[in-house]
Amino acid sequence: MEESVKRLTEETSAKIVACGSVAELNDIRVKVLGKNGELTALLKGMKDLPPEKRPEAGKIVNVARETLENAIATRQSALEKAELEKRLQAEKIDISIDKPVEHIGGLHPLTIMRNRIVEFFSSLGFVVAESPEIETDYYNFEALNIPADHPAREMQDTFFITDSILLRSQTSAGQIRLMEKVKPPIKMISPGRVFRADEADATHSPVFHQVEGLVVDKGITMCDLKGILDLFAQHFFSQDTKTRFRPSYFPFTEPSVEVDASCHHCGGKGCNVCKGTGWIEIMGAGMVNRNVLIGCGIDPDEYTGFAFGGGLDRITNIAYGISNARIPFENDIRFLKQFR
Ligand code: DAH
Repeated sequence: MEESVKRLTEETSAKIVACGSVAELNDIRVKVLGKNGELTALLKGMKDLPPEKRPEAGKIVNVARETLENAIATRQSALEKAELEKRLQAEKIDISIDKPVEHIGGLHPLTIMRNRIVEFFSSLGFVVAESPEIETDYYNFEALNIPADHPAREMQDTFFITDSILLRSQTSAGQIRLMEKVKPPIKMISPGRVFRADEADATHSPVFHQVEGLVVDKGITMCDLKGILDLFAQHFFSQDTKTRFRPSYFPFTEPSVEVDASCHHCGGKGCNVCKGTGWIEIMGAGMVNRNVLIGCGIDPDEYTGFAFGGGLDRITNIAYGISNARIPFENDIRFLKQFR
């Protein structure tokens, strides 16, 4: 018996070393060490030995089993490693391959402009605040000094979801959300999408974009507003652009103005872009109404502020000389690829 165990161990060890795959190794394991395997059979045969020889024989078989199990484990990890290596080689992707790339998309002009505006105001120390597109009546109107039945509500034909929930009609709602949370000094801009129940035509769309600005601190005056907007117009239109304020009315600012920039197309002489006036309206603005500050828990005798809000689509069109406001939303690749 000792002889047979020794032979089986030697033969099997040689097969283990020679075998070429994990599957083959598994066959060897089953054939020798399995329930009906050859070594198991030898173990079972022990019952034919005289009782005094059995412990010795048992030991021999166990040592053989252990030797073979170790050999199998060693071979198995070597084979697994080799197989993994082979697979990695076979599946390798050459990312250095030089293939010309076609049709890379670009940013929409409106996105480019929004990013540039954010960059411009960030460089002046403004933070960017986001606020929800689905708003409550309170933030969109009430807190902006536009109570129910106020005629100013009619200027903005609003999409109501319920009596008190709506799609924001102006980014000005974000002023209130910010002033409730952050106390002065405040310097923020908030670009975003707004909604009004307008029929789409050459100058109207039910969805458009605005950029809101708000500065609140001690001693802020209209001169600060004018200074910032001059810089803005010169940066985005041309170095010699001028701005002018025309008296206007917004419930959340007092006094309120309409801001015009001198026409960059004709330099202010009058052309078809500015409809002969030499000026192009770019936004509404003014000094934050005392009532709005009070509603947000800011003392209007200690702090003053200015706010402005302009159509981002309009500013983009002026800056890039886009004459038809519909074109940017028609997804015509011949138009879009000019902005790469
Ligand atoms: N929210 C106004 C609108 O949609 C624009 C506006 C005017 C915003 C004056 C302001 C402002 O912040 O001060 O027509």
